[in-house]
Amino acid sequence: MAKTRVAFFCQHCGYESPKWLGKCPSCGQWNSFAEEIVTPIARNSTSTRKSASPVSLELVRTAEEDRIPIPDEELNRALGGGLVRGSLVLLAGEPGIGKSTLLLQTALQLQHLQILYITGEESEQQIRMRADRIGLTHPAFYLLAETDMQAILKILHQLKPDLVFVDSIQTMTSSMLGSPAGSVGQIRECAAIWQEFAKSSHTPVVLVGHITKDGLIAGPKVLEHIVDTVLQFEGDRQYVYRLLRTVKNRFGASFELGVYEMAERGLRPVSQPSALFLHQKEEVFSGSAVAATLEGIRPLLVEVQALVTPSLYGTPQRTVSGLDLRRLQLLLAVLEKRGGFHLHKQDVFLNIVGGLHIEDPALDLAVVAALLSSFEDLSISPSTCFAGEIGLSGEIRAISRPAQRIAEAARLGFRRIYLSRYNQDIPPHPEIEVIPVGRVEELYQQLF
Ligand code: TYD
Ligand code: MG
Repeated sequence: MAKTRVAFFCQHCGYESPKWLGKCPSCGQWNSFAEEIVTPIARNSTSTRKSASPVSLELVRTAEEDRIPIPDEELNRALGGGLVRGSLVLLAGEPGIGKSTLLLQTALQLQHLQILYITGEESEQQIRMRADRIGLTHPAFYLLAETDMQAILKILHQLKPDLVFVDSIQTMTSSMLGSPAGSVGQIRECAAIWQEFAKSSHTPVVLVGHITKDGLIAGPKVLEHIVDTVLQFEGDRQYVYRLLRTVKNRFGASFELGVYEMAERGLRPVSQPSALFLHQKEEVFSGSAVAATLEGIRPLLVEVQALVTPSLYGTPQRTVSGLDLRRLQLLLAVLEKRGGFHLHKQDVFLNIVGGLHIEDPALDLAVVAALLSSFEDLSISPSTCFAGEIGLSGEIRAISRPAQRIAEAARLGFRRIYLSRYNQDIPPHPEIEVIPVGRVEELYQQLF
C-alpha cells in the first residue's frame, strides 16, 4: 500500500509545496495554498492503456477523418468543424451562463449517438425538467448522477457510449486522493483520468468547468494544459446574448466565435450577429462611437459609450465595463501626453453596449473617439465607425483584416470608417468612405 502524505497546493496554478506559503512562487498569488492529502497512485489501477508501440506516421489516422459533426453550427464552428473522436474538451464559464443548457441541447440534437451525461451538480429530475423545457427527446440518452471516478469508469466500460458529457469537473472525485472535490489535486487527477479514457476508448469527452469571479478557470491552470480544446462561454447574465469563444484548440483555429441568444426554450444560435450590439436609438448623443471589431474571424460592430465629467474628488474615477481597465488607463495617458487633452481631472466611465467583453485591439480608436466626443460634448455621426489600434506614442496602428471590417460596416449601412493610414492597399468601396488617420490629434481634427 502506497504511503499517503500531505502537501500544499496553490489553488490558482497547481504549484506544489511541502509547507504552507503565503505567496505562490510560481504564479505570485497570495494566500492561495491549501493542504491536500496525496496518495501516490499505482497508475495502472485506473488505466485502461496498453503499452505503446511505434507506428509509421503515414498509417496514423488524422483527426480530420474522425469528427462528429454537430448540428448546431455555432458550436460546430467553435470546435473547428465538429467534435474530434478521442478528444477532451473543456467548456468553461461562470455559473448560470448556460453551460448545462448548451451541453444538454447539443446531446439531444445528436439523435444517432448513444450519449452518457454525467451530472454531479443537478439531480436527474432537474435535467429532465430542462430537457422538457428545451422540448427534445432522445432514444439513447443516459443520465448518471455520480461523482466517483472509479464507479464512473466501471459504468463507462459496460455502456460504451459514443459521447460523454461531464457536468462538472469540479464535482468529480477520485478515491485515490484524500482531498475534497474541487481541490487542485482532484481536478488535475480527474481530468487526467478523463484524458486517458478519451484517448484509449476513442470517445470524445466534454467537461464543464466553472470560472471564478476574476475570470480564471477554477482550479489549476493545469486543467487548461491537459485538455485538447478550451471553449469559454461568456456574456452578461443581465443580457440574453452569449459568446462561445475558442481559447485553445489542438484540432482547429483557436479564435473562433459562436453567438447565442438565451431564449425561453434553450439557446438559440445567432448566425448574423454583427448588428446585435449596436444600440438602437432615435437621437444622437455625444460620447458614443461604433467600433468595427473582429472577434476571431467574425466581424462584429459594437457601440462604445463614454462619459467624461469633471471629477468632484481629488482622485478621478475610472470605471469600465467590457474592456480591460488598464487598456482604458493607457489610452487616457496617451491622450493626455501625446494629444494634449487634459483628462486627469475628469471622471471617466466607459461601457461596451450589450454586456460584451472585447479583446480586439482595433477597439482603441472607437474608445478614443467616444472619450473625445464626451469630453468635448460633440456627437459623432451614427453612420461613422472606427477600427484602429493606438500605440504608446499616439500613433494609430494598422489592424488585421481591414477589408472584412469595411465590408461588414458597409453591409450594415455605415457610410464612413476611420482606419489607420498604415493599413495600405485597401481597395475603394463603392458604399463606404475610408478615412485614413495617423495620429490621435489628426482623428480629433477630422472628427470635430
Ligand atoms: P444553466 O445551463 O443551468 O447554466 P450553467 O450550467 O452555466 O450554470 O442555465 C442558466 C440560466 O439559463 C438559468 O438561469 C435559466 C436560463 N434558461 C433560460 O433562460 N432558458 C432555457 O431554456 C433554459 C434551459 C435555461
Ligand atoms: Mg450547470
